Amino acid sequence: MSPSATATITTEEPAVRLPRIGQDAPRAFVDRFTPWLTRTAEELDQAFGDPATQAALLDVIASLAVLRAAGDEDAFFAQQYLLSRIYALHLQLPAGASAEGSVVLHAVTRRLELDTMAAEDAALDGSVLATVPDEQEAYVPWLKELTRAHKAFKHPYYHEFIRNEATPADLRSYVVQESAVDARFDDLLALMQLGTSGGEKMEIAANYWDEMGNGDPAQVHTLLFSRIIDSFGITDAELTGSLSAEALLSGNLAVLCCRYRHLFPEAVGFLAMTEWLVPDRFSQVLHAWRRLALPDPAIVYHELHIGVDAHHASGWFANVVKPAAADPAARRGMTRGALWRLNSSARYLNHSLGERR
Ligand SMILES: [Fe+2]
Ligand SMILES: [Fe+2]
Repeated sequence: MSPSATATITTEEPAVRLPRIGQDAPRAFVDRFTPWLTRTAEELDQAFGDPATQAALLDVIASLAVLRAAGDEDAFFAQQYLLSRIYALHLQLPAGASAEGSVVLHAVTRRLELDTMAAEDAALDGSVLATVPDEQEAYVPWLKELTRAHKAFKHPYYHEFIRNEATPADLRSYVVQESAVDARFDDLLALMQLGTSGGEKMEIAANYWDEMGNGDPAQVHTLLFSRIIDSFGITDAELTGSLSAEALLSGNLAVLCCRYRHLFPEAVGFLAMTEWLVPDRFSQVLHAWRRLALPDPAIVYHELHIGVDAHHASGWFANVVKPAAADPAARRGMTRGALWRLNSSARYLNHSLGERR
């Protein structure tokens, strides 16, 4: 398909009110399609389920990936925004009708996921993958070294911009973008633990219990994060509508790794990197908060995570990554997931820095 490819879906059936998806620009297409997510699965399948209509719909979804690869930022945003809205069906209790079980939506979701993974895989450096050690003992030190040398590590966005330059408005937008992962970290762990056993399950359980404030409802991490959101007066509409494509991608990749059992090694690599990068990054955020004398909730949240995530990261490395590294396929998967995290994080930070300076 060429970058300018658009598929056409008939609009001649007002009875089912099909959106003019093939003739729309990417963002307009997504605006027209997302209302179907809050209709029933049966309605969506009835409207898009005949083979020709479904094929045309999937063609439009695939064209977002083609356009994105050609540098179309709107198509990238549309692709990741749509995936994030679909994931919301799987991760939030519905307020009304939900298309969660739709067969057509499943096909759309898989297309979006496969395209998202293909884009990340295309960014992987083959020469790095070729150096994955064969020895279990060597794997964790190698992965840490790889991370220390990566541009996402001690990125100037945190070490220069957030620490020394960010204004209160910048930190407000920072919190909005961070909500893609922090606002649901406990659910990611809950998804990830399905089917695990032994040391892996215990590590996830311990991590999860920390997320639950070790049993104190007032200390649940997602609640502490929501206090930061409230302290800035950030609305739900803003959280849904103001995320950048890069922030959406970071959140989507986390969900994607955690929801599929066959991607468990990728999830381990992805989350181990997430935890390991937090203490240094949050130290810079904390410094900014104190420099600007901003409200307390963020100080509580970031101070807590500087300690707890250092502990989580060492737990991940010792009790999950290292044991799993005995298996060559798991080493490849963990490396792939770690690099998805590092590469997407670096792009997100480059973009954020570019926006703010
Ligand atoms: Fe946490
Ligand atoms: Fe953590």
